[in-house]
Amino acid sequence: MKKEYKLEYNEIIKDIINNEHFLKTKKDIHHGSSKYEHLLRVSKCSFILGKIFHADIKSVTRAALLHDFFFGTRKEKEENSYLNHPLTAANNAKFYFNINEIEENAIKSHMFHHALLKKIFPFINRKEKAKIKDNKPTSKEGWIVCLSDLLVSVMEVQRYEFSYIANLSYLVLINIVLMKH
Ligand SMILES: [Fe+2]
Ligand SMILES: [Fe+2]
Repeated sequence: MKKEYKLEYNEIIKDIINNEHFLKTKKDIHHGSSKYEHLLRVSKCSFILGKIFHADIKSVTRAALLHDFFFGTRKEKEENSYLNHPLTAANNAKFYFNINEIEENAIKSHMFHHALLKKIFPFINRKEKAKIKDNKPTSKEGWIVCLSDLLVSVMEVQRYEFSYIANLSYLVLINIVLMKH
């Protein structure tokens, strides 16, 4: 990131990243690393894309930073599920950080890619119903947050989760082979 961008980015995020409630996200694991790290990555990505596509930089960066601002994992509580957590995060963000309408809508629609995937592959996450219309971003900022989350999540799963599963499979395989000889 360019130096002047870095200063601008740090200025936008400083009140949120030092907040005691936001710091709780450091304890939650998300895509194999901490949720705090995930939120920072998505906000950096959104900040850069926001510059490229001339978006409202403050809103897109803050919305991205708060898009998964819920406590615990997605499996722990009903309100944190795949399709419910955007609303939970938006409510938390409203409560703790007084977000604007653009930010609120961008947080609520950040799982649009998941709703779309479910339409193509209905066997994914069968229990939850998702309407494309209800999850579609309504602003440029919303599309940027959604895209950034997708890009960062694919990178994280590949880097932190897939490699772990691959390593585990390798260990199991080695053990089976060794036990047979
Ligand atoms: Fe999310
Ligand atoms: Fe996310």
